[in-house]
Amino acid sequence: MKLGIVGSGTIVREFLDITHYLTETELTAICYTERSRETGRELAGRYHITHEFTDYEEFLNSDADTVYVALPNHLHFLFTKKALEAGKNVIVEKPFTPTYKEAVHLSEMAREKGLFLLEAITTLHFPNYKKIKELLPVLGNIKIVQCNYSQYSRRYDSFKKGLILPAFAPACCGGALMDINIYNIHYVVGLFGRPKQVEYFPNMERGIDTSGILMLDYETFQCACVGAKDCRAPIVNSIQGDQGCLNQNTPVNVCENFQIILNDGTTTLINENSYEHRMIHEFKEFEAIINRRDFKTCYELLNHTLTVCEVQNIARSKGGIIFPGDA
Ligand SMILES: NC(=O)c1ccc[n+]([C@@H]2O[C@H](COP(=O)([O-])OP(=O)(O)OC[C@H]3O[C@@H](n4cnc5c(N)ncnc54)[C@H](OP(=O)(O)O)[C@@H]3O)[C@@H](O)[C@H]2O)c1
Repeated sequence: MKLGIVGSGTIVREFLDITHYLTETELTAICYTERSRETGRELAGRYHITHEFTDYEEFLNSDADTVYVALPNHLHFLFTKKALEAGKNVIVEKPFTPTYKEAVHLSEMAREKGLFLLEAITTLHFPNYKKIKELLPVLGNIKIVQCNYSQYSRRYDSFKKGLILPAFAPACCGGALMDINIYNIHYVVGLFGRPKQVEYFPNMERGIDTSGILMLDYETFQCACVGAKDCRAPIVNSIQGDQGCLNQNTPVNVCENFQIILNDGTTTLINENSYEHRMIHEFKEFEAIINRRDFKTCYELLNHTLTVCEVQNIARSKGGIIFPGDA
């Protein structure tokens, strides 16, 4: 894959640090803003990225076959759409798009044009996550699922002082649901599919959810997902069945070791991840999907992304969180 990157922020820097694991990927281009010219040039030099752009249209004319959209949430839709129109495959950072309607639009475009479209969400690609899926039957009938991802954000300090950074700005489609609880949605929907009912109870400040509790009703069991950027707590992920429970104490986007505790007390600790950095499994899979032209896997992942977008959209609507694209 010939990869072009758009953005030069936090996640791009993290990604570039793991690119030496991607032996079948060539970094051909990076697109940054005028204001980030210095950072962009430094990254291009350090990671031997061949071409640099500050104009997205020119970047799309470069020889990259795949674009990694690593921009604030409100730009995902437009930048992805333009890349697909230019005939590029796209890997877009989570959360895929602010609205379900936009997600469907992009998904249809990619399928019609025979292009790859993937959401960068680490959770689905961990061997540990795949193992959890495989081991679910040993827990018996599932009764209760809980995920708590609460991480106090330094940006919340600025937010309280009135400096609203994109991660908390309604205009940039920020907030706790989009930024952090979205990981929990991916985790749960990837294991159990679409819930029957969705409710979201947000803590709202200045028109955005700084934290909240998402309730997913699966008819035969209940699930509570907590996402918080305004307070912290130990990470808890548990899946409780009538034969035993699964316990995992790392965020679902990291998905480190987990325990299976059966009702007879038998406890097994499992860890099948091969790499320490959370983005390696994910991007190695993307590299394989695109280089091997594996549309089946790509579109299965895309169907999952659509379900997550739908759940997110219902939750936002129930919680009264309004984004520009909703109109
Ligand atoms: N998968 C993960 O684990 C993970 C972790 C963190 C973030 N993310 C996701 O990644 C995305 C980016 O987050 P981040 O933390 O990297 O944000 P960030 O540090 O604020 O970086 C955003 C980048 O986008 C650039 N940008 C803004 N408008 C642009 C434009 N019109 N053309 C080109 N570049 C533009 C910014 O440039 P300027 O600075 O010059 O404005 C900046 O380089 C978000 O959607 C977030 O949810 C994912």
